[in-house]
Amino acid sequence: MSTRTSHDQALTPAADADVVVTDDAGPLDTTTLSDFVGRHVGPRQDDVASMLQTLGYDSLEALVDAAVPPAIRSTEPLSIEASPSEHAVIAELRQLASRNQVLTSMIGLGYYGTQTPPVVKRNILENPAWYTAYTPYQPEISQGRLEALLNYQTMVSDLTGLAIANASLLDEGTAAAEAMAVMRRTSKVAQDAVLVVDKDLLPQTLDVVTTRATPLGIDVVAADLEQVGDADALRSLAGDRDVFGVLVQYPGADGQIRDWQALAEAAHEVGALVTAAADLLALTLLAPPGEWGADVAVGTTQRFGVPMGYGGPHAGYLSVRRGLERTLPGRLVGVSKDDDGNTAYRLALQTREQHIRREKATSNITTAQVLLAVMAGMYAVWHGPDGLRRIALETHAKARALAEALTSGGLELGVDRYFDTLTVKTPGKAAEVLAAALDTGINLWQVDEDTVLLSADEVTTLADLRAVADAFGVPAPESIATVEAPEWGRLTRTPEQTYLTHPVFNTYKSETAMLRYIRSLSDKDFALDRGMIPLGSCTMKLNSTTEMEPVTWPEFSALHPFAPLDQTEGSRELVRQLSEWLEEITGYDKVSMQPNAGSQGEFAGLLAIRKYHLANGDDQRTICLIPSSAHGTNAASAVMAGLKVVVVKSTSEGEVDLEDLRAKVDKHRAEVAALMVTYPSTHGVYEDTITELCEMVHEAGGQVYLDGANLNAMMGIAKPGEFGADVSHLNLHKTFTIPHGGGGPGVGPIGVRSHLAPYLPNHPLITDAGPDTGVGAISAAPYGSASILPISWAYIRLVGGAGLTRSSQVAVLNANYIARRLHEHYPVLYTGADDLVAHECILDLRGLTKETGVTVDDVAKRLIDYGFHAPTMSFPVAGTLMVEPTESEDKAELDRFIEAMVAIRAEMDEAAEDGVEGSVLRGAPHTAVSLAGDWGHRYDRMTAAYPQGVDPTRKYWPPVRRIDGVYGDRNLVTTCPPPQTGQG
Ligand SMILES: Cc1ncc(COP(=O)(O)O)c(C=O)c1O
Repeated sequence: MSTRTSHDQALTPAADADVVVTDDAGPLDTTTLSDFVGRHVGPRQDDVASMLQTLGYDSLEALVDAAVPPAIRSTEPLSIEASPSEHAVIAELRQLASRNQVLTSMIGLGYYGTQTPPVVKRNILENPAWYTAYTPYQPEISQGRLEALLNYQTMVSDLTGLAIANASLLDEGTAAAEAMAVMRRTSKVAQDAVLVVDKDLLPQTLDVVTTRATPLGIDVVAADLEQVGDADALRSLAGDRDVFGVLVQYPGADGQIRDWQALAEAAHEVGALVTAAADLLALTLLAPPGEWGADVAVGTTQRFGVPMGYGGPHAGYLSVRRGLERTLPGRLVGVSKDDDGNTAYRLALQTREQHIRREKATSNITTAQVLLAVMAGMYAVWHGPDGLRRIALETHAKARALAEALTSGGLELGVDRYFDTLTVKTPGKAAEVLAAALDTGINLWQVDEDTVLLSADEVTTLADLRAVADAFGVPAPESIATVEAPEWGRLTRTPEQTYLTHPVFNTYKSETAMLRYIRSLSDKDFALDRGMIPLGSCTMKLNSTTEMEPVTWPEFSALHPFAPLDQTEGSRELVRQLSEWLEEITGYDKVSMQPNAGSQGEFAGLLAIRKYHLANGDDQRTICLIPSSAHGTNAASAVMAGLKVVVVKSTSEGEVDLEDLRAKVDKHRAEVAALMVTYPSTHGVYEDTITELCEMVHEAGGQVYLDGANLNAMMGIAKPGEFGADVSHLNLHKTFTIPHGGGGPGVGPIGVRSHLAPYLPNHPLITDAGPDTGVGAISAAPYGSASILPISWAYIRLVGGAGLTRSSQVAVLNANYIARRLHEHYPVLYTGADDLVAHECILDLRGLTKETGVTVDDVAKRLIDYGFHAPTMSFPVAGTLMVEPTESEDKAELDRFIEAMVAIRAEMDEAAEDGVEGSVLRGAPHTAVSLAGDWGHRYDRMTAAYPQGVDPTRKYWPPVRRIDGVYGDRNLVTTCPPPQTGQG
């Protein structure tokens, strides 16, 4: 045993460099484990030793040796150097940040300057109570963020004039692609019908939509739709083919506001639906799309207080008219009631995503942009309808002042009805104008040699307008004349077309009131700042403060994604270094950072595989083999990539059934495009057949897609790119410490072996972001959610290769410790070699449910009374709980959880005897107010609220009792309900 016992002894270097520290957990290599590892990893070294003892191993290495098949083990340690301290990492990041130049960007094209209300920035964006929360699948402990998302949905619905808005998508481009799928699924016209889009769609939106359309065999016809006045004209534009959908920009990418009503009527006449990609700020002044005939609206909410962030993250929005709610992708918050009849919020229309129906899926989105949607919703709460209208009118007034200066100076505009964006004709001089503007610190956009595009926004100043006028060589405007109302004829929003009338948007006007509102919401929620969130497959580990700090530095947060490359050197260098590290960790040859969620990475990776086969003349390779235990997104992504899903069975031990795989590979030998497999499996086990599986598929000419969502079990232990896989996505919002934000943001980069590198994503406007031969844009921005990449960069740099390895080792230790201590109370469903699990374990409650009547739901809700977030419920196996503690939870927290689960197990026995109805488990969770009234339960109040082990001084009180989901779905309400007059 070690002779040192101090708390920090664990993973910190010895004070005296000559002291060699060894203990049961193996030698502490003080030269490779950085100081920060001891902050990131929960268990102290003596805890590690005692946990290893419980498991019967004498070192972490021995445990991992026993759990992981030798055939896949890495032979070399990860070659990534750790930084000496948190201060040093911040200094390095400052250095990188200083290589970015933050100028004033008036580029527009979907990204605008905005002021994040400071009360929102500090109390939401920079507040762990918001950013460390998980997706609100457990609604009783998520009422705060569910209310914030309901505000967001109400805002989008009101502004677009469409009844139902979801609680965010990934960006405007992908939202438009999702709208295409909604229109295709709803329209009854022929299968070979086309999508018609206006020529003035944002270029990146057109690219993302085309990337999505191509594998589905959908033709996208881009044309000037302004002239389409009737059905015949539309049909003829489509080459006399059927049209299932029409997509227009409102206002157009060129700035022009077009009247799309006649087009919408024509579209409906031919059986098509209409989607408007609309600017939300403009909509405060414009006739809402729902009023002129759009069926769907999409866009970004970035300019509602969310920094441009070099492209993201921002919340994309999507709203639909009533009747289309069942085709809506993404998460939808709905109003329901709890056991006591009080209003309560929950995800509506199935707890999980209704669109992910394996091979029948229409979308693969799960992780969205919740944190950013909350911010955008709060921007609307803060400013209210009048404030938003004022910001919009001021923005319009700035554009108008500049337009008048330009036309007075003899220049011609390409627009005559605009909101904030001007197309300016400068024959032969566009480059010169751009250079002159740049000299004064302003970025404009060059459309071609003769045309400049520019946008005003919330933060544009008179000085900016004057500098731009100078750059064009025209007399500068003296002032910005106030505009009372825009002059857009029937496209002007009327006073009757009201929005944000709900009290929530008209109440919190002082900062004191706003601060308290935000605080009251986060107080309702359980996030990592309160306790462990042991959600299997989610990796809810520490998101350290140092890692989070750079996110709001202007050098990272204020860059326009299409800014000239020499202004973004620091961010691109950060992308390059992070890619290199991820390549080292995974063994792949090349990484693309563009996909902004795991789901998007899956889609990108499968497209790369498909394109590779096509390049080899293997057009017939269209089958994707997917084990039955796979995450739902896998099959959904395969369908979106134009592949046919063939399901491979699992054995009773939970492994991929090799015989079934062999039979299916043989049967479809010539058509196998890929095997898509998760490793360690979604059952939480290191299967020792993985290399054989990869060989079998390769031998048949297929590729192996390895879902890397569980990489937290493999860092420094095994490299997928070396043990047989061709491509993986990684979830940076799991393994690499980007916080979950209540359901997003995420980052889902893909790593590929060199033969797939030519088929990584690229971008229409930033050619540096991917290969010419790539699959097209997967996300709207060239580097996806670039502004949160410093988080993962900082984590890797803080812990280095040895610290990453230690993270994975301890993640495996923690999971096995829980599995071992709980297995006599709850059977552990699957184990691998030596009865070990990987980084998570599945507790099988099915037998207990049969015996006692107590369901996984009862256990999950009762855990709330004990002060825990429930583990993952019923995934990947119905009736089970999947527990993933991660390396960041210390032994005390693991023990607290174990003891709570053991106590609940005893309560199950009691329920079996006395009847589950009326039991404390069925009555859970218990609110404070439920204790105060009449008490008709057979258990006492103390048992309800302060069961064994709950520290009364740290009690978490859920704000609502168990929520009735069915009621909410039968009575679908997805906007803010009228205020309640007290609960009870
Ligand atoms: C195994 C697995 N694959 C893929 C995904 C999808 O990732 P994302 O939610 O970032 O789209 C998840 C997400 O939970 C997952 O657990």
